[in-house]
Amino acid sequence: MSDYIARVFDPEAPPSHPLDSLTPGEIRTAATAVRAQASDGKDLLFSLMLLEEPPRGDDRLLESPPRERRIRVVTLNQSSRHTEEWTVVVPSGQVVGHEDLTAQGITAQPPIIVDEFMDVERIVKESPDWQAAVRRRGVEDFELIQVDPMSGGNFGFENEKGLRIIRAVSYLARNKEDNAYAHPIDGMVTYVDLTNMRVLAVVDDEVFPIPQEDSNFHDDNGISPRLDLKPLEIHQPEGPSFKVDGWEVSWQKWSFRVSMNAREGMVLHDIVYDDEGTKRSILSRAAFAEMVVPYGDPRPSHFWRSAFDVGEYGLGALANSLTLGCDCLGSIYYFDTYMCDGQGEPYTLERSICLHEEDFGVLWRGANWRYGGNWVRRTRRLVISFWATVGNYDYGFFWYFYQDGTIECEVKLTGIIQTAYLAPGDYSPYLGRVAPELAGQHHQHMFCVRLDPAVDGPLNSVVEVDAVPVPMGPENPHGNAIRKVTTVVERESQGRRDTNLGSARTWQIINEAQSNDFGSPVAFKLSPAQTAMMIADADSSVARRATFAKTAVWVTRYSPDERFPSGDYPNLSSGGDGLVSWMKQDRELHQQPIVVWHSFGTTHFARPEDWPVMPVERIGFMLKPFGFFRRNPALDVPTPESKDSCH
Ligand code: CO
Repeated sequence: MSDYIARVFDPEAPPSHPLDSLTPGEIRTAATAVRAQASDGKDLLFSLMLLEEPPRGDDRLLESPPRERRIRVVTLNQSSRHTEEWTVVVPSGQVVGHEDLTAQGITAQPPIIVDEFMDVERIVKESPDWQAAVRRRGVEDFELIQVDPMSGGNFGFENEKGLRIIRAVSYLARNKEDNAYAHPIDGMVTYVDLTNMRVLAVVDDEVFPIPQEDSNFHDDNGISPRLDLKPLEIHQPEGPSFKVDGWEVSWQKWSFRVSMNAREGMVLHDIVYDDEGTKRSILSRAAFAEMVVPYGDPRPSHFWRSAFDVGEYGLGALANSLTLGCDCLGSIYYFDTYMCDGQGEPYTLERSICLHEEDFGVLWRGANWRYGGNWVRRTRRLVISFWATVGNYDYGFFWYFYQDGTIECEVKLTGIIQTAYLAPGDYSPYLGRVAPELAGQHHQHMFCVRLDPAVDGPLNSVVEVDAVPVPMGPENPHGNAIRKVTTVVERESQGRRDTNLGSARTWQIINEAQSNDFGSPVAFKLSPAQTAMMIADADSSVARRATFAKTAVWVTRYSPDERFPSGDYPNLSSGGDGLVSWMKQDRELHQQPIVVWHSFGTTHFARPEDWPVMPVERIGFMLKPFGFFRRNPALDVPTPESKDSCH
């Protein structure tokens, strides 16, 4: 074991901290307890298993190791089709909560379970209507047809009420390795009713030819690799500068805990900066609480596409095992994480969280042009990340910590686009051509990150900051004046805030009880991602279900039950849950425990360069200290000492 690793998390041992990721033993105990308690335990599909984290400020957070923990389990009964919630205490296995939501008349569809993907493919391929529609497009052999199950959305169709709906689209693969997205079987979509395990309808809108050109990008695909790349190797002969103790990470003056859950993927807890010996808190928790990918093609075979990848699929459940030298470069520490499959069995996601540090250019520099002299420091950043593959897309979620107190969050988007047929020479206002007979539907990827701020303590406020011009006049005779105008977000009725590029709008998370040396409240500045918000009509189904994506910044009062901006059960939801409903309480936000939800995304007009696999697109935001420190906190970073140093 290297000296930077104090302790590797032992999956066979009990957890050592209340916020540690679930252990395989805890997953097994919870599933066994639920099965034993259920009237017909063998019929249960396990959709979701989440640690019930003790709320902020709870004494249980101080108990290391924890005597007991609580796990929230969501199951789907395969015969009754009921959705049930269970709360299990581990290690005792005592079931302390059970609600049959369906029996109570609550509409709640659990996230899609991987086991159901296989069911969908089988049900679809057995359907005579689907077979006939595929034959109309010239395909007789169904063996190699790839059936993609996609979350169904909710369009108020009478015959879908209360049913567990999946919509399936089909692609033709030439062989098992072939990129089937090159050959969409377009103009049709299959509605599958998973409640009754049957095809509800095959919507056969228009018969298109299947694009024939192959588009493969895997190794040995006939593309000769460029030959002029010389080796570039990252050596850290003394190992990395970070330390890992179980799920706790420290690096330079930063420390935090990390965990992984099936729904949000990686979560960061208790982010602290050591300011000359004082441990100062910044965030109590940070994670991706929801995301949605609304597609903008109104045709019958396309309009419904809108996946909620956190709430309907689960970013942790779909996380990848990473490969050294490819996904991550340098001295890497990997965390293995543990998930629950549909049968309640634990499985290991090996190397699913990647931790490393990297050189990131100049930290600061100052040159004296009069008398000579040049003072430069290079910066490093600590990178902690994971990748999730959701259907055709790959998403990388990256958090960076910098030596000057900056935190950056970045999403990397790559993978294969959804495809549609577009005849050569044709044009569609809703499609972007990528190949001779192939196009991608216009779409957006909208993310919502949940930040639980704790800037020098648990009670914070949010201040909106605008740069405002002053009219020319006696106070501003030359018209150059810039005013900084600040607005305190006092209540939840003011908690929905839009970006404004024209006024360089940012927000500051402040603590008015803690002043800096100059008498101002200590603050961290949120520099939002400069992106369009959700384009879909405010009255559309997807906008009602993902209202979070209509506005960049939302501030709410902290409440342990308010975790997901589109509600606990976004799958097939009709909308109105989550943020919009909680904020009707109009709670006070001034010097309170608050939550800041930042929505941002990318608007994707597919281009030829996105085909056949899309180069990484990046989008994210920054949190920067603003009067949190008394001066540049990175003056003590030493001069570079490498062999080919600039000195
Ligand atoms: Co895209």
